[in-house]
Parts: sequence; structure tokens; C-alpha cells
Amino acid sequence: MAQLLEAIYDEIRPLLGQGKVADYIPALASVSPHQFGLAICDVNGEVTSIGDASTPFSIQSISKVFNLVLAINHYGETMWERVGREPSGLPFNSLVQLEYENGIPRNPFINAGALVISDMNESRFASPHIGMRDFVRRLACNGEVVANKTVADSEFEHRARNAAMAYLMKAYGNFENDVDDVLHSYFHNCAIEMSCEDLARATNFLANKGYSVCADEQVLTADQNRQVNALLATSGMYDEAGSFAFEVGLPGKSGVGGGIIAVVPQQFSICVFSPALNKVGNSLLGVAALTSLSKRIGWSVY
Ligand code: DON
Repeated sequence: MAQLLEAIYDEIRPLLGQGKVADYIPALASVSPHQFGLAICDVNGEVTSIGDASTPFSIQSISKVFNLVLAINHYGETMWERVGREPSGLPFNSLVQLEYENGIPRNPFINAGALVISDMNESRFASPHIGMRDFVRRLACNGEVVANKTVADSEFEHRARNAAMAYLMKAYGNFENDVDDVLHSYFHNCAIEMSCEDLARATNFLANKGYSVCADEQVLTADQNRQVNALLATSGMYDEAGSFAFEVGLPGKSGVGGGIIAVVPQQFSICVFSPALNKVGNSLLGVAALTSLSKRIGWSVY
């Protein structure tokens, strides 16, 4: 495994310097783009890593996976009345589809979908972002995981676009709670900082039929786990989901902090981190590293 990671690192290293760090969240604009980390966690919980794999970074939209799991646990099948399961084919923060489709977001991973899911969790948890933080601490076997308040506050200050989505959904009767309360929880979840090693452990249940070895907890039923992996495969990489399936062929989820998690079912979970993004907001080196990995292991879900 260590040799595999070294070969991938050597292959993608020349790309360092390409891409652009997200600057629409001002607190993220100062992150150094010259970072790369990769960690793999097998289904026994054994982690192998390379590069900056123990450096914490802003998990951003990767939090949408944990947010979804908490909602599935509380709402089961009924939640699909409020959010769809289709790819959007549009940027993650697009508003247009939401009006055509009467305030029902296409899937849980575009911002509108994650906001509806945050609204569901807001109704069930006394303190949703603490519930989420404790959940990821258990899954990652790391009691030190915290949200970066500066990042969360910076996003809250620049919340207009996400707030517009939430109010539009409220106008369609698909949003129960106070918009700013839900945005506060959502931004705190996005601002959680974890390393590749933390995230590879925390998402390992996705490779293990819903069972987390680290937490010793059945996080999802095997059936629900299969469904979440299907959603990751069709919508986890936004409007790059098609070419990611074509090139990599694994369920995956990106965040604008530069992280991507990916799943090789029944084998291992992967997290790659490099902050410079491509045009659709996915980590440029992260996509390249996963492309290299899937070719080298000669395996895809398709
Ligand atoms: O709400 C936002 O725009 C960010 N907190 C999360 C966006 C994100 O990570 C999209 N992923 N590639």
C-alpha cells in the first residue's frame, strides 16, 4: 500500500501549483496551495498515508455526507419527500433549478439539498453542530476534531447566496426553522477541520456496509449504505460527476477546502487533500490522484 501511495504522489507532484484556492469564502483564501496529502483506511481500520495527510483542513462539503447520515438515522425513507436523488448538472450553489422544481433540491449534496437536510437535523437536535461534531469525532477516533470559528463566521457574513436558497425553499414550504439558525449550523459543519487520516477513518463505514470499525457502530444499514454510495457516485462531484465516474469510477465527495473522499466498497476508504481547485470547485490534484489510484488498482464500481 505504501508503494502505491508513493507512486501516485510521484505522478501528480508536477501538477502542484496548478488550480486555484477557493476565495469566495475569504477565510479560506489564505490557505497554501502547495499541499498534498493522501490516506487510505482498510476495512480493518488500518491507515496508510503520504504527504500532508495529518494536516487538518476545512472539510466543507464533505460534511454533507455526515449530515445526510444523521438525517437518514432520524427520518428514514420520509426524508426523500423533501430532497431528490438526481444529479443536478449545475454548479453546487446554483439557484435556478430550485424554482423550476418548486423548492425541492435535486440531491443532498448541492448546497440547497444540504440546507434542507440541515433544516431536518435542526428540528431533531438541541445543538445540531455539536451533535455533528461529536458524531465525526467518534467516526474518526479523534476527540480533538473541532470547527474553525473564523471560517464559520466568514461564511455566515457572506451568506447571501445560501440564505437566498433557504428563503426560496421556505417560500415553497420546504424549510421549517429560522434560516439564520440553520445557516449557523450548516456553516459550523462545513468549517469542521479534519486531516486525510481522520476523514479516511471517518468515512470507512461507507466501504464496510455501514459499519464503522473505529466507532464500533453500525452507522447505516447495509441497504442505506449502498444508497448513500449511489448518491455519492451520481452527485458527489457536482457537475463533474460524469467525468469522475468515467475516469475514476468510485463514489466520491469533494469540498472546496480541497478534500475529496472516495470509496472502494468492501475494500477501503480514501481521502485526498490539495487546496487548489479546478473550474468546478473540486481539488485539481485530488481528482488527478484518484484517477491515478483507480487505474493502478484496476478497480471501479462499474
Ligand atoms: O456553502 C458553501 O458554499 C460551502 N460551505 C461549501 C461548498 C463546497 O464545499 C462545495 N464543494 N465542492
